[in-house]
Amino acid sequence: MGMGSDMYRQQILDHYKNPRNYGELEDATFEHVGENPMCGDTLKLFVKLEDDDETIQHVSFIGDGCAISQASASLLSQELGGMTLEEVRAMERDDIMDLLGVEVSPMRIKCAVLAEKVAQDGAAIYQGDKELDETTTED
Ligand code: FES
Repeated sequence: MGMGSDMYRQQILDHYKNPRNYGELEDATFEHVGENPMCGDTLKLFVKLEDDDETIQHVSFIGDGCAISQASASLLSQELGGMTLEEVRAMERDDIMDLLGVEVSPMRIKCAVLAEKVAQDGAAIYQGDKELDETTTED
């Protein structure tokens, strides 16, 4: 789709080179890690909740991975502030694809969804609904 998709490609590169909310969060309420076992790329997400214990105040991340996985984490970190853990857990794959704004080949879909899966598992674990040491894109 011509210019539209070029714009999104540039956005992905920009978020990859200058990731937003990159770094550890000292006062995180919880954190969670994930990995794409196909490539070994990793992501760790830090979530700070408001006093209500369910609304996200701030998200940061550290990671080592491809442009799509890291840009997804950066874009997602900007979206999650103000959302509740329930809303995060209800997100769908299309939501992250909409954020990325480009067609992602089947090979790269796992790159794209890693951050969302880590956020969702982290939220479920924190709320006591899941037991898991590490998220992988295989599940
Ligand atoms: Fe590893 Fe994309 S190639 S997450």
